[in-house]
Amino acid sequence: MIPEPAPTVRELLAFYLEAGVDCALTEEPIDRLAELDAPPPAPRAAPPVEAPRPVSAPAVMRGEAAPAPDVAIASARDAARTAPTLEALRELMQGFEGCALKHTATRLVFADGNPQARIMFVGEAPGRDEDIEGLPFVGRSGKLLDLMIGAIGLNRTTAYIANVIPWRPPGNRTPTPQETQICLPFIQRQIELVNPDLLVTLGNPSTQTLLGTREGIMRTRGRWFEYETGARTIRALPTFHPAYLLRSPSYKRLAWQDLRTIAKVLAG
Ligand code: URA
Repeated sequence: MIPEPAPTVRELLAFYLEAGVDCALTEEPIDRLAELDAPPPAPRAAPPVEAPRPVSAPAVMRGEAAPAPDVAIASARDAARTAPTLEALRELMQGFEGCALKHTATRLVFADGNPQARIMFVGEAPGRDEDIEGLPFVGRSGKLLDLMIGAIGLNRTTAYIANVIPWRPPGNRTPTPQETQICLPFIQRQIELVNPDLLVTLGNPSTQTLLGTREGIMRTRGRWFEYETGARTIRALPTFHPAYLLRSPSYKRLAWQDLRTIAKVLAG
């Protein structure tokens, strides 16, 4: 039998891309097959008992091994409520180690737009373009979002834009419920600090997470909800995610109705 020629680097990369692999997690390749062949490691001696450590910053802020989800959620909640300003919140999130997504993302995608804006849009999570630029909604769906808000006279100087999850999930996979719960206190604090008159949730995940509903976007879009910051009630309106509108343009008609509702409230 004639052996198949080895694939070129270009062919290999094309194969990876097709399989959904679009980022490298480490500098060096890891041969997982060699790991399978290797004999099992000898049992390790019990580690020496460590002297108790003095109490200091929580482990999730010190960069130690990833904590259990409930510890990370509690730590995110405690940390987020201490941030007195958006800048402090951004810094705190930069140093937060409780969400594994941080380690596969290139950078934190905190927000874009005007923190004084009367309207805040919240999406799900950054994609590839956002991960590269460090700003939310700058890829294809972001271009559509700009057109949508532009149609009612808004832009990034008159609106504020963020995501429930501030780090890109690898390969744009759906964030896990734990990842969402860990990141939730941060976006909640961000909403509280921006304190907009109107909150627009983009798509199902953002709507269900922030507005605590289990109904799907087809039933929630265009309906008014109340978002409680703790200090104030903010009017909230779910609408379609622009990425969904790119895939299903026939729903743009309904999205336009939602935009007109938003424009009326802002004018009133
Ligand atoms: N989709 C989102 O939900 N957020 C972004 O920032 C980009 C795409």
